[in-house]
Amino acid sequence: MRPLKFTSLVVLTMIAPKAVFGEKILFIESSPRNEQSQSSKIANKFVKAYLKDHPKDTVDILNVWNEELPELNEDTLAAKDAIMNQVQPSAKQKEAWGKVAETFKRFASADKYIISVPVWDFGVPYKLKQYMDIITQPGLTPLESASSTKGQLTDKPVVLFHSSGDDYSVGSRAEDLNNRKKTFVRNWLKFIGFKDKDISEVSMKGALSPKAKENEQKALTEAEQLAATWGK
Ligand SMILES: Cc1cc2nc3c(=O)[nH]c(=O)nc-3n(C[C@H](O)[C@H](O)[C@H](O)COP(=O)(O)O)c2cc1C
Repeated sequence: MRPLKFTSLVVLTMIAPKAVFGEKILFIESSPRNEQSQSSKIANKFVKAYLKDHPKDTVDILNVWNEELPELNEDTLAAKDAIMNQVQPSAKQKEAWGKVAETFKRFASADKYIISVPVWDFGVPYKLKQYMDIITQPGLTPLESASSTKGQLTDKPVVLFHSSGDDYSVGSRAEDLNNRKKTFVRNWLKFIGFKDKDISEVSMKGALSPKAKENEQKALTEAEQLAATWGK
C-alpha cells in the first residue's frame, strides 16, 4: 500500500480521527490484588491479544483502588438535587460536583470498555460500586428515564471479566447468587445506556477450588478468542 499524502492524512484525521489515532479503551480494574488477581490476569491476556490486531488503540487503566474517587457526600448529593431541580448549586456543592463530572468525563471519553469484576460477598468490590454510583448521574449518563441525554454511550462495546473463588456448580443455590451479581452489573450497564448485544462476559469460576488451573486456562483461551472479534 502506498503511504498517504500529507493532505489526505489531514482530511482523514478530520473526518475519521479513530482511523488515524486508534480508539481509546478504558480498563476499569476492580481487584486490588495486582499480580495475584485472576480477573486482571485474564483481562490482561485479552488486552494483549486485542492490541496485537489493533496497534493504534490505547488502553487507559483505571484501577478503582488507586484512584481518589469522590465521595457521594452531603455536598455532592445536594449538587445532584440542585441539578435535578434546575436550581443553582452553592460554590461548595459545585466544587463537589466538579469531581464527579471529571470522573464521568474520563469514563465517557472511551470508545470501548473492559471491566474486571471479582465477586466479593455475592456482590462487587465496594470500590467498584462507588465508581458505578459516581458515574450514574442525572445530566451525565443517559439514564433510561432521562430521554434528553439518551444516546451518549450507545453502541460502545464492553467486556466483563468475572472471577470467583467458588466454582458455583450448575444448579446450586450458590450458582444463583453468582448469577445475581452478574445480572446486577449487566443491568447497571443497560441503565446507563449500553445495549445488551454490546456486552460480553468471560468468567473465571473456582479460583479457590482444586480445578483453579484448569478453569484459568479455559478463561484465558476464551479471552483470547473474544479479542479476535471484539467490537466488530
Ligand atoms: C472480600 C472478599 C469477598 C469474597 N467473596 C466471595 C464470594 O462471595 N464468593 C466467591 O466465590 N468468592 C469470593 N471471594 C473470592 C474471590 O472472588 C476470588 O478470590 C477472586 O479470584 C477474586 O478476584 P481477583 O483474583 O481478581 O482479585 C471473595 C474475596 C474477597 C477478598
